[in-house]
Amino acid sequence: MTRIPPHSLTARARIQGLAASKVREVANAGFGQEGILRFWFGESDQPTPEYIREAAAQALRAGRTFYSHNQGIAELRAAIASYLTRLHGRPFEPAQISVTSSGVSALMIAMQAILDPGDRVVAVTPVWPNVTEIPRILGAEVVRVGLEASGGQWRLDVDRLLKAITPDTRLVLVNSPGNPTGWALPAGDRAAILAHCRRLGAWVLSDDVYERLVFGREGATAPTLLQAADPEDRLLGANSFSKAWLMTGWRLGWIVAPAAMGADFGKLIEYNTSCAPEFVQAGGLAAIEQGEPHVERLRRDLEAKRDRVIGRLRELPGVEAPLPQGGMYAFFRIAGHDNSVALAKQLIAEARLGLAPGAAFGPEGEGWLRWCFAAESSALEEGLAHLEGWLH
Ligand SMILES: Cc1ncc(COP(=O)(O)O)c(C=O)c1O
Repeated sequence: MTRIPPHSLTARARIQGLAASKVREVANAGFGQEGILRFWFGESDQPTPEYIREAAAQALRAGRTFYSHNQGIAELRAAIASYLTRLHGRPFEPAQISVTSSGVSALMIAMQAILDPGDRVVAVTPVWPNVTEIPRILGAEVVRVGLEASGGQWRLDVDRLLKAITPDTRLVLVNSPGNPTGWALPAGDRAAILAHCRRLGAWVLSDDVYERLVFGREGATAPTLLQAADPEDRLLGANSFSKAWLMTGWRLGWIVAPAAMGADFGKLIEYNTSCAPEFVQAGGLAAIEQGEPHVERLRRDLEAKRDRVIGRLRELPGVEAPLPQGGMYAFFRIAGHDNSVALAKQLIAEARLGLAPGAAFGPEGEGWLRWCFAAESSALEEGLAHLEGWLH
């Protein structure tokens, strides 16, 4: 009898080497336990606004249940282009927009378009792990440039970033406002980053998922690289309906890219998901066209919650809490606690408080904790009281 050589029943080594989510590890430790206050995931505790749900329900009732154009329905691409034109004060065309099934799919497809195995990628960190694991899935190598907490704020040493962007760097990843830190790229740094990348021919991928959730100025957006770029710049934007319109479960996002790349994005979307569901896109259209008052209300609400949570955290003994400039997270640490996964699990067990461990966002996040403050004020107050009680 011939023996068939044993084959391993495993994914390729790179996939096995991907980090499992440490946020999930902590959340799984808390699931099934009664009375845990949960601030570990990055989403609001409120459902999607009614007018968006109604638009999608109407599309469903009308039988809009078929495949659509790879890059999205024409009305939505046009609406996103004019929305970005209004927002950033420079022209965007529908041909530059590709609708994707989520922000994370926008990141994946944008990087599939750019990266070959072995490519060098530079990322500003700590950052949501998907941003740095996607290039690794594609065989690229990620070099991390860490933000630093100083003077009560997260800061980027731009010279360090520019030094890390070498002639053989293919892609630079910037997420501003950032998850988990709330760091926002200062307007003054955009030109230097873009000029350096232009000189070297490096691509930039700007993750603008939190660009509407920026604090300090009414109606403001974070100073995204998209705003400062020339049409010739090798610049891609990834965006999402999840955060500004409370649509995490819908899985809808978009890519902004040079119009000349449209056909290639169409192919990549075909081979990933083929298209976003049409009734979901109908919801996205309502969000873009009618959502401004809601987005401004959300922004103000999150700003007030940021002020409250950071203010209270700063009163607690041994707590360092830099002020986030945008997003929906407080990223803070407690003196004497260096192992964030152990600390997050301890807080679940002893303070009934569910936070995400900073190590989930890379080694620069170790020792820190992320608290999503897009929650009811009463829940936030209770969580702050639990933490205070535990610390005392
Ligand atoms: C930095 C960042 N980028 C992209 C996303 C993707 O959002 P989604 O896939 O829900 O559209 C998230 C979600 O948490 C995020 O934090």
